[in-house]
Amino acid sequence: MKKLVSLLLALAMALSAVSAFAATLDEVQAAGKIVMSSSPDFPPFENLVVDIGTGAVDYEGIEIDIMNIVAEKLGVTLDIKPTDFDFVLTDVANGAADIGVSGFTVTEHRKQNVLFSDVYYLAAQVVVVTEDSPIAAVADLAGKKVAVQSGTTAEVLCLEAGYDMSAFKANVDAELALVKGSVDAWVIDNTVAKRMVEEYNQTGGAQLKILEEPLTEEPYAFAFAFGSETLVDAVNAVLGDLMASGDMAAIFEAYGEAYEVPAAQ
Ligand code: ARG
Repeated sequence: MKKLVSLLLALAMALSAVSAFAATLDEVQAAGKIVMSSSPDFPPFENLVVDIGTGAVDYEGIEIDIMNIVAEKLGVTLDIKPTDFDFVLTDVANGAADIGVSGFTVTEHRKQNVLFSDVYYLAAQVVVVTEDSPIAAVADLAGKKVAVQSGTTAEVLCLEAGYDMSAFKANVDAELALVKGSVDAWVIDNTVAKRMVEEYNQTGGAQLKILEEPLTEEPYAFAFAFGSETLVDAVNAVLGDLMASGDMAAIFEAYGEAYEVPAAQ
């Protein structure tokens, strides 16, 4: 499966060199909608919410709020296409979506396949363990079993560090593996770790804790196909306004998060 995905990505890249899958601002505005691919399992950035009464599905979070403002400023509607994290960048690179929004960390490797907007937030990766764990620092991870979400920068980090790693489709599955004791630690972005651990600890059971020492710095941005420069510029203009006006900080605060405008990367 991995092979097929990289083959498809290579094909998409070759084609995008001639901008076949680019989403220009004109095209998005002519279509009247911006199609956003996202993995909605990453609270408080994007999360799937199901109305228990009606069964209706909706999405909420910081990046959903930002994208609703982006869509409004561009004069289009927001069309959210949920998928597994592994496939978001493929959707973007092959033109199945105009924009990839999923708490994406900008990396040099990803820049070979997609364009990124300006960075709007700085996160970090952290280690989550059970309350009684002997793991107290990053150095203690050596020889331990570590859970991650597949396709993430956490997976890359653990591969590079040579940890005994299990990759899961969704972060809830990685969290469950830790709770059940089939892994010793879970590596995930700090803001999401905080949210998911808080929620888990409220429900009781084996309590989880986050180690203070961060593993990396994770600059977040949105992803686009090569050739989408006009759309990237339009989105950057909205992000710039939100950061300068304090509206970005207000969005984060609405989700209980402090916010600082990141230094230009
Ligand atoms: N920041 C990390 C990365 O870019 C994790 C993102 C995971 N996002 C998600 N919606 N599950 O790889």
